[in-house]
Amino acid sequence: MEKIRPSVKDQQMLCVESPPPDCGIVVFGASGDLSKRKLIPALGNLFKRGLLSRAFFCLGCGRKKYSDDDFRQIAAQAIEDISPALSDSQKSDFLACFHYINGDYGDENFYKNLSQTLAELDKKQGKSPGRVFYLSLPPTLYSTVSQNLGKAGLNNSSKDSFTRLIVEKPFGRDLASAVELNDCISKWFTEEQIYRIDHYLGKETVQNILMFRFANSIFEPLWNRNYIDHIQITIAESLGIESRGGYYDKSGALRDMFVNHMLSMVCLVAMEPPASFASEHIRNEKVQLLQSIRPFKLEPWNEDIVKGQYSAGEINGQKVPAYRQEADVANGSNTETYVASRLWVDNWRWQGVPFYLRTGKRLSKRVTEIAVTFKKVPHVMFKSAGIEQLPANVLIMKIQPQEGISLFFEAKRPGAKLCIGTLEMDFNYAEVFSAESHDAYERLLLDCMVGDQTLFTRIDDVKLTWQLIDNILSAWQQEDSTPHFYPAGAQTFPQADGLIQKDGRSWRPISQM
Ligand code: BG6
Repeated sequence: MEKIRPSVKDQQMLCVESPPPDCGIVVFGASGDLSKRKLIPALGNLFKRGLLSRAFFCLGCGRKKYSDDDFRQIAAQAIEDISPALSDSQKSDFLACFHYINGDYGDENFYKNLSQTLAELDKKQGKSPGRVFYLSLPPTLYSTVSQNLGKAGLNNSSKDSFTRLIVEKPFGRDLASAVELNDCISKWFTEEQIYRIDHYLGKETVQNILMFRFANSIFEPLWNRNYIDHIQITIAESLGIESRGGYYDKSGALRDMFVNHMLSMVCLVAMEPPASFASEHIRNEKVQLLQSIRPFKLEPWNEDIVKGQYSAGEINGQKVPAYRQEADVANGSNTETYVASRLWVDNWRWQGVPFYLRTGKRLSKRVTEIAVTFKKVPHVMFKSAGIEQLPANVLIMKIQPQEGISLFFEAKRPGAKLCIGTLEMDFNYAEVFSAESHDAYERLLLDCMVGDQTLFTRIDDVKLTWQLIDNILSAWQQEDSTPHFYPAGAQTFPQADGLIQKDGRSWRPISQM
């Protein structure tokens, strides 16, 4: 199939990037993996783009006994891969903003020390900038830390300065624990102060779903049951669980990927047009959409949802162990590393249009995309010439690793009078906006600092998503709920295929994505 590369001219670029207010960030779990891999590099990039205020500081907190200098060294390593690199003077200005205190998160004295350190930093700046507390911690500590921040009076926002709390996922393990966690946090922080992260919402191309749908008039009239046959969303990973066996084995793909990242994408693709781009308008529409999702059918078993687990296999020529052989995974674990499901949205727009969703680890390659398959032409007028069937038009929103949008359509090929072929019209972000791709955490940290909650998950959204999968979680807790096994490196497996094939459709092959 041939590709057509459109030449995109950004003749009318309308960019709105809010200037940062005076703000400092306190990172709990500062020496952890997330902080090194994502948060500090994101802050480094924001600094480089001039999007951190002059009063900015990053105060790391952790149990390890580091000095400010130790933490600065960690930060220096974390920003090494930033490209283009920070200059030497930028680097030293940036690292000078880093400070560290250690302590036990359960000990009230630690919060006294934190309070004192923040007061000293304020004194140095000559003002009290806004504060963002980032919980980059095991979820079991979210309640303890929020409560202790509250008891120490560190939760207060005032007219002149704000206090916000960023909470990493997972927000609870099911509906009951999410409600309990929220009840605890909201004793000390208001909903306007709580920023629940789903990093998928910070990805450029995920945000582009809204722009694509609502800043163009040509697609929205087709975006409904009259013209769309079905939608497939794939989040395939070639990585396994890395060193996270302890967390993952108690979580599984349903909690780790499906309830948050996957359902967030469903919301953006399927929601009604919000009245404006204002945070609450968008979040209201997401919630409306979630309310329209039909509860999953568990009987007959596998009608709507299939779970899988990788066995040993090979990825890119490398042998990899079975999930059950990974460190910190229980013997004979039934935890799913793959979920495929069929979902229905019971509303006017989507009645009868299936959404097929799948996510899995240790698949043949890393790729995330949304494929919208339109209905086939109602009548094939080329039958007399032997052309019985024409493929449907497919619109692909490519989320990663390629970022862009492709449209597959039929066109005449040169030569014989009746010669039709499928062409792909392809827009690739990297080619058009090469230097401008930003990591999701950059967007999300900046949004939190400027007080924009659009890309963060509101509590009613969290509750609805857990409510949707609660019955699956309980069913899967039964001992006999063994997953189907697929070899690491596979694209799919028979039971996942069965879920879509029974409707006369098939998954887009991962190898062709
Ligand atoms: C995280 C999950 O939220 O998302 C991980 O906990 C997963 O298991 C990761 O690997 C995938 O994110 P990305 O941005 O690499 O697609």
